[in-house]
Amino acid sequence: MELNDVIHGHRSIREYEDREISQELLDRILQAGIRASSSGNMQTYSIIVTKDKELKEKLYHAHMEQSMVVDAPILLTFCADFNRMRKWLVLNDAPVHFDNYMSFMIGAIDAALAAQNCALAAENEGLGICYMGSTLANCDQIGELLNLPLNVVPIVGYSLGYPAENPAPRDRLPLHGLVHYDQYHDYSDEDIQEIYKDRNEKGWNRYMAVPKLKEMTEQLGLKNLAQIYTIAKYTKESHQEFSQTVLNYLERQNFMNNE
Ligand SMILES: Cc1cc2nc3c(=O)[nH]c(=O)nc-3n(C[C@H](O)[C@H](O)[C@H](O)COP(=O)(O)O)c2cc1C
Repeated sequence: MELNDVIHGHRSIREYEDREISQELLDRILQAGIRASSSGNMQTYSIIVTKDKELKEKLYHAHMEQSMVVDAPILLTFCADFNRMRKWLVLNDAPVHFDNYMSFMIGAIDAALAAQNCALAAENEGLGICYMGSTLANCDQIGELLNLPLNVVPIVGYSLGYPAENPAPRDRLPLHGLVHYDQYHDYSDEDIQEIYKDRNEKGWNRYMAVPKLKEMTEQLGLKNLAQIYTIAKYTKESHQEFSQTVLNYLERQNFMNNE
């Protein structure tokens, strides 16, 4: 496929055919992933390919019961990884650090770039993916299930398989609402209203089209999409709790040493 068609044809896939992905195809996807840029070409990430049914069943709970974890033939988890690099440093009599927050961020960025390269390569081959925020939100549980050693933290993950649905592409905020030339130009109230005009309507209609979500919206007395986002979907409490999970796990995984 043309690169532009792949990029613009993207839509998250949450339903999958019961069909295996060949090792050759998976290798092509992973090879595309490791071509991504990385900080200092250190490639401070690891990619975990999960196919085992029993393990996926356990991961399903850690991923907040999202059915694609068990329905898709493969789950990919991209981790920030300084474990490998640190071992190499030891063997070469080099100072061993990278046990700090900056290193975590470097590994996290490397992991995300590799993930998106794999995603595009997969979509180019007719496969579908759906990222799961639960990878980071429940990084401690997922890290344990994936047997991650110190200095490795799950960042992003997605289901991967042959699509069993063909959803329409979702809207995006307009380009001028996202791009700033030369310097950041802060938004007036009018800018915000204009930038979110379509989103307000399309997002709301999307929720109203799903009976379960419509009922929840009515029960909570929500009046617009913005309220759905912070009263129902991403509450302050849940985000504080997930933040604490991540901070604790970073500490545990040896990424918070400031000495
Ligand atoms: C980091 C990240 C986490 C996400 N987490 C979830 C998730 O947990 N469950 C889900 O169904 N979709 C998840 N998504 C998919 C988004 O909902 C989706 O990308 C967005 O709504 C735009 O839709 P599209 O990908 O179909 O264009 C996530 C996407 C990203 C990038």
